[in-house]
Amino acid sequence: MKTFALIGHPLGHSLSPEIHRAIMASAGIDGSYDLLDIPPEDLPSRLPSLLRGLDGFNVTIPHKKSVIPFLSSLSPAARRCGAVNTVHQSTGHNTDAVGFLAASLPLSGANVLLLGTGGVASMMAAESLAAGAASLCVSTRNSARGNAFLTDLRKRFPGSSCRLAAVSGPDATAEALASANILLNGTPVGMWPRAGEIPVPPDALHAGLSVFDPVYCPTPTRLVLNARKHGACAIGGLPMLVHQAVTAQQIWNPGIAIDASAIAAKLLPTLVAALWQKNPTKILLTGFMAAGKTTVGRALARRLGVPFTDLDAEIVAAAGRSIPDIFAESGEETFRALERDTARRVLERPESAVIASGGGFPTYEANRALVRQTNTLVFHIDAPFETLWKRLAGRPGRPLARQQAETAALHVRRAPIYRAFCDFSAATTNDLTPSATTRLLASTFRAALSP
Ligand code: S3P
Repeated sequence: MKTFALIGHPLGHSLSPEIHRAIMASAGIDGSYDLLDIPPEDLPSRLPSLLRGLDGFNVTIPHKKSVIPFLSSLSPAARRCGAVNTVHQSTGHNTDAVGFLAASLPLSGANVLLLGTGGVASMMAAESLAAGAASLCVSTRNSARGNAFLTDLRKRFPGSSCRLAAVSGPDATAEALASANILLNGTPVGMWPRAGEIPVPPDALHAGLSVFDPVYCPTPTRLVLNARKHGACAIGGLPMLVHQAVTAQQIWNPGIAIDASAIAAKLLPTLVAALWQKNPTKILLTGFMAAGKTTVGRALARRLGVPFTDLDAEIVAAAGRSIPDIFAESGEETFRALERDTARRVLERPESAVIASGGGFPTYEANRALVRQTNTLVFHIDAPFETLWKRLAGRPGRPLARQQAETAALHVRRAPIYRAFCDFSAATTNDLTPSATTRLLASTFRAALSP
């Protein structure tokens, strides 16, 4: 039996064992794949025995560059990228590059904005230059690091005519984004357990972009969702993860044919489901009263295989009174306090879920902050007031939807808040039957959630 492994630190929720075991099973390779958590200070003492003892291994953060001096040679891709993610017989390879190129981004002639300067950033910069990008702007927190990154890149591509620049800070990054056609995230920002983070100001994203985010936990990230919200084409890191693993297995097992596309098609849905189970992530549905949050939320939860929670129903259960009674007996302030406490309890539950919130919930800054701290992605159901009022008029149960003019004014105030706060939005009108509307919205949201 062959022995393979992944070295890195920390390794926490790596999907690599699952992916490699699936590839080996489908290709008939008799092998094992283990996780070896090696802190940076232990790398020099551990590497010699790994190089002797294993049939091959993968390398991840923070060793992709520091492993190089211990190897006897580098493949052309590893040399070009200045980083190694696969080792075989003491030669360093970079199969991340194959996974990245499988995304088929239109790199030739493009203006590329790259975030970060780590190993994956290094690989994406090199492949952008190799593919003939017109310009590459690297955005870092620290401008000295950005300049050092560019100096190193120039050394690896002495003949390149690509224009290189470095920027730092959100304003300069947003400005660079305005003229970019490709955005590459080389930072871990947005990775679970901080899925509420996003590496660029969301409103700077635009429809002229192709976005690639190697972060795959969650799938999709807030960056990918917000890019799709703005009409951009966006690809997450999960397909790249599968491709780099298949390519590593091909290097370790020369002569065995492995069909990367067939494996990706089979594995991706399983991996997405595994991520939902392993890393508690919430989808919060927002939108005005009667937008269909509960109905669509229930359908989406069923399709994702996660529980559904209706915030208003939880409030009623906790208070032991109906919402009109809470408003009538204790006032809106009391309702809002109950709503916040209930939301905190629900959003902090240790399992993935789809949650429908009441229409007023995201209009409070404290609630929006709570959402951003709890690995929650926000989906908005947008609808014209006329559509909503047809559903609301004459129905009891909503104390804030009694008079048409007042309710219309509330809709005018709230609509921009929902649109700005959400990570993805889908529109609905009364043109379809209720069940067709639900099906359409649920499938639009599901498409937005694709890898
Ligand atoms: C409210 C919306 C209601 C409920 C409460 C207040 C609002 O939920 O939370 O009546 O402020 O818009 P729905 O949006 O599910 O109707």
